Amino acid sequence: MKSLNEINIFRKNELEGIISGDEKLSELAGELDFVFGYGPENAETVLIGEAPGKDEVRSGRPFVGKAGAILSGILEATGIERESLYMTNAVKYRLARPGKRPGTLANRPASSAEVRLGTGWLEDEIGFIKPRLIITLGSVPLKALCFIANCGILDIGSCHGRAANVNICGISTVHVPLYHPASQIYNRDLKDVFAADFEAVRRLTEGGILYV
Ligand code: URA
Repeated sequence: MKSLNEINIFRKNELEGIISGDEKLSELAGELDFVFGYGPENAETVLIGEAPGKDEVRSGRPFVGKAGAILSGILEATGIERESLYMTNAVKYRLARPGKRPGTLANRPASSAEVRLGTGWLEDEIGFIKPRLIITLGSVPLKALCFIANCGILDIGSCHGRAANVNICGISTVHVPLYHPASQIYNRDLKDVFAADFEAVRRLTEGGILYV
């Protein structure tokens, strides 16, 4: 069995090869700044975000910037230890485009092709860690799990906070889709929704037992 590090190196090389061989994709993706998943390899919970931003690229760890600070706050408030989670992203490189000022970069949305291309890597990580709970943050990792499950794309607005039993890479686990922590920066109403959903996750895992 490959180690997590071997999986990361293999998948990174594979992705670089695919993207560099595709003119449209390589023009869209630009320079590939990768950030791997981070956290205990025996984590009970895997948390999946969209893609690393500039702070994550700088530090080499997921969720260390603004969205990460919001996430840390809610984890602390609900008594979930951040260090106990394995955090990763649906797309492992920064989704960047040229910024307004010359020489700067701005974030951009993930294309469906990029989300689909990231699913093999995600499946390898989930298959390696075998989590009892998977939390997706936002519509992009939700879409990635829908691609993996080969089902229709679910709408975050109607399924957030609701736990479902899923089978991913032969592993029976529980999936809870949540809004992305950064969404409350743009929509203040989502702050309470996000907090309530996280509280539901905490209750779900109370006493180390998952109830679905
Ligand atoms: N937002 C994400 O979705 N992932 C990160 O790692 C950081 C911010």
